[in-house]
Amino acid sequence: MSKLILVTGGAGYVGSHCVLEFLNKEYNVIVIDNLVNSTIINGNGLPESLIRVQHLTGKKLKQFIDGDLRDSELLDSIFSNNNIDVVIHFAGLKAVGESIAKPLLYYDNNITGTINLLKSMEKFKVNKLVFSSSSTVYGEPEELPITEHFPTGQNCTNPYGRTKYMLEEIMKDLCVASPDWSIMSLRYFNPVGAHFSADIGEQPNGEPKNLMPYITQVAVGVRKELKVFGNDYKTSDGTCIRDYLHIEDLAVGHLKAIDKIYNNNFPGFHAINLGTGRGYTVLEVIQAFKMATGVKIAYKIVDRRPGDACAVYADARLAHEVIGWKATRGLQDMCSSAWKWQQKNPNGYRSKVK
Ligand SMILES: NC(=O)c1ccc[n+]([C@@H]2O[C@H](COP(=O)([O-])OP(=O)(O)OC[C@H]3O[C@@H](n4cnc5c(N)ncnc54)[C@H](O)[C@@H]3O)[C@@H](O)[C@H]2O)c1
Repeated sequence: MSKLILVTGGAGYVGSHCVLEFLNKEYNVIVIDNLVNSTIINGNGLPESLIRVQHLTGKKLKQFIDGDLRDSELLDSIFSNNNIDVVIHFAGLKAVGESIAKPLLYYDNNITGTINLLKSMEKFKVNKLVFSSSSTVYGEPEELPITEHFPTGQNCTNPYGRTKYMLEEIMKDLCVASPDWSIMSLRYFNPVGAHFSADIGEQPNGEPKNLMPYITQVAVGVRKELKVFGNDYKTSDGTCIRDYLHIEDLAVGHLKAIDKIYNNNFPGFHAINLGTGRGYTVLEVIQAFKMATGVKIAYKIVDRRPGDACAVYADARLAHEVIGWKATRGLQDMCSSAWKWQQKNPNGYRSKVK
């Protein structure tokens, strides 16, 4: 019988792309999401992102639950009513600036929500978890590329990053206390782009905080110009370097992680970088976008943004060794898929599928 996955935050950007892969691989999927960063549009109880995922796969979710991870009774009822095999945990708030302005909201949502989840899992003896972590746990690295052995936590520059660090520490402690647990913490670098259908993609709320959605919004005319934060970093053109990763590669990484923790005996806590291992400056991304789409992006250089590291890119070898995963899509693909999604959906999920 096919396995049952509980996906938290499955209506969001990363979650929806992963749910699509899980359904395609014949997993049964239950999603819990409180829709704080995604929306129900058609009044039928399902967020638009997941309606489109069902349409693309021709498969249905076992259940969608409009609920919050801070509701521990709800979580217990989900585990008691279903034989869940593995949990994939995306649910969380992720806006760095907002986390600085509202730290308690971030600690409550991300930490309390996750502790509730872990407690329910423990109670119902479900002990396999894949967790969405982030390269932000490394802060400003002293060397490059970043391996999983680099120190985490001490250089985190904001409460969002600290929630990821703290949750990893909690999960490590849990795995020490109970050797039955198998937890894989996937440290994403910079997921960008969209599914090749361009029917699902990233829908930022308000002014985008990340480079690629900002670029596509300038390209489509929603914003006048891109702000490039600083051109006096010690890089080839002075702008920051990041490791961008195609969202479809990221989704495949989750399939491989499930395969490893479910089908192989792989107890303990394991942190794994998901990146390409290659960094690009902001100006290189703008140039790649023009090559991929023909659209020139207007930009202006503004002051550095506090807390931005100069260069961040992964050593991605461990992912290959441990889960057999390697990114296959390049920057051109990332740019063209992001552009296709933006053009087809100028108003995000409020746009009609053509
Ligand atoms: N997108 C990135 O660049 C990136 C990079 C590194 C790590 N991550 C992590 O990956 C995960 C998914 O990110 P995303 O980009 O898909 O974000 P997203 O905001 O699109 O998706 C997160 C989903 O979680 C839901 N959610 C939040 N708090 C919840 C709660 N308490 N209970 C139930 N649902 C809740 C939201 O409604 C949303 O649908 C997050 O944990 C994020 O921190 C994302």
